[in-house]
Amino acid sequence: MKTQLFNNAADVQADLLVVFVPSEGELPAATAQADEKVQGQITALREQTVFKGSVAQTLLLPSVVEGQPALLLVGTGKDALSDMNVKKVAAAVGTQIKSLPYANVAVAASGLSVKDRDADNMTTLLAQWLNEAFYEFLGFKQSDAEKVSKVETLQIEGTNEDALKVGVATASGSAFTRQLGNLPGNVCTPAYLASKAQHLGEEFGIDIELLDETKMDELGMHCLLSVGRGSDQPSYLIVMHYRGGKEDEAPHVLLGKGITFDTGGISLKPGAKMDEMKYDMCGAASVFGTMKAICELKPALNFTAVIAAAENMPSARATKPGDVVRTMSGKTVEVLNTDAEGRLVLCDALTYIERFKPQSVVDIATLTGACIVALGSVNSGMYANKQDVADALKAAGSDAADKLWQMPLDEEYQQQLDSNFADMGNIGGPEAGSVTAACFLSRFTESYPWAHLDIAGTAWTGGAAKGASGRPVGLLTQYLLSKAN
Ligand code: BES
Ligand code: MN
Ligand code: ZN
Repeated sequence: MKTQLFNNAADVQADLLVVFVPSEGELPAATAQADEKVQGQITALREQTVFKGSVAQTLLLPSVVEGQPALLLVGTGKDALSDMNVKKVAAAVGTQIKSLPYANVAVAASGLSVKDRDADNMTTLLAQWLNEAFYEFLGFKQSDAEKVSKVETLQIEGTNEDALKVGVATASGSAFTRQLGNLPGNVCTPAYLASKAQHLGEEFGIDIELLDETKMDELGMHCLLSVGRGSDQPSYLIVMHYRGGKEDEAPHVLLGKGITFDTGGISLKPGAKMDEMKYDMCGAASVFGTMKAICELKPALNFTAVIAAAENMPSARATKPGDVVRTMSGKTVEVLNTDAEGRLVLCDALTYIERFKPQSVVDIATLTGACIVALGSVNSGMYANKQDVADALKAAGSDAADKLWQMPLDEEYQQQLDSNFADMGNIGGPEAGSVTAACFLSRFTESYPWAHLDIAGTAWTGGAAKGASGRPVGLLTQYLLSKAN
């Protein structure tokens, strides 16, 4: 599907025109024009309360006049839309148009009034959210062939081409993220993630480095390696370098937790919903998606993506509770719970990243159930050792409508990690579990500005719509774009 801009709903060529209808007051200009062409049907439908214009309500008016587009009426309620409601509206539009038989769809976006967002920002978000509605997890059901959408061209009313491109690239990145996240653990292994990095390298000409277990052993990454010890799938550290900036300019680094399946290891998880632990590589997946978006947008900055990939399994060779492992930094860790494995793979990756002398490092991880308890699936938890990085991430999250909430890193929490047998334990007890996980990571990030995103609650959706959400690709893409020259 091609996404492009158009200027004026009065003369746009389309098979289907999407117009917005508030529940009260004047119709927006584009909707009023369409209303005239259908002899006031929109006004009549609203007056007769057949179509009330409540938020995200939709109604199709098929075309009865040759050459006139069909109309999709979409309700926007009585006030300017909040981010939450505009997302609902965009999702409703996307879901409708992808299942309707029209090839050329135009969205009269000027009819949307949104709180605290300008037209260009809306162009980006609409392009992103409409494209995202087209994502389907394909390749595993015999009925997949029926799911192919008829839409060839999606036109969005607006004027800023760059803003459109950001939205389209973000959607392309988030589709990649969702696909990787949704793939089952028997397909998406650490080696599979490594092969995906190589594909990106071939497609976009970025440099890829793959560190296998032998190489990581030589480097002293015993903590990372301790996690994959019980698995037949070898672990990898995957590095991708996007170089769009000056040669001598320090990179911004994103690091993703890539546990392709988390059984808990010897500290085995309970059976219920354990299948969802295939999503434990969504941090890695969001870094892949962001790399894809950045490669498509080609901003002027240097960006290094690092993935710490392993599978956490129990076996006779697996790491046991009480085992002490040495990290690449030299600090030792008593593995009190083999299910707190994310921090164990990340800490060695964080030490490895020192060699890039980064301007900033952000790690993204489905790190703790405690973060879900604290913030649910609305906000990602954010921790930072430099307020600059936190503020830049907050701004990016707000631009992308991809929410995060800053959490504390007070030194008082650090003592929960004390161990009698090693420099630290890998768990901090029942209190403040998301915080103590971040405290653990903070001990490996002292040499650079760093932030940590705990996306355990935001990376995927449970229930009937079960699947990877693609978050926080929007936030990360905006963050990197804000660092470009
Ligand atoms: N991958 C999990 C965190 C998680 C749990 C993500 C539920 C999404 C949904 C992580 O590896 C884990 O198991 N964390 C433990 C830490 C505990 C043992 C200190 C947790 O949250 O229970
Ligand atoms: Mn775990
Ligand atoms: Zn995990």
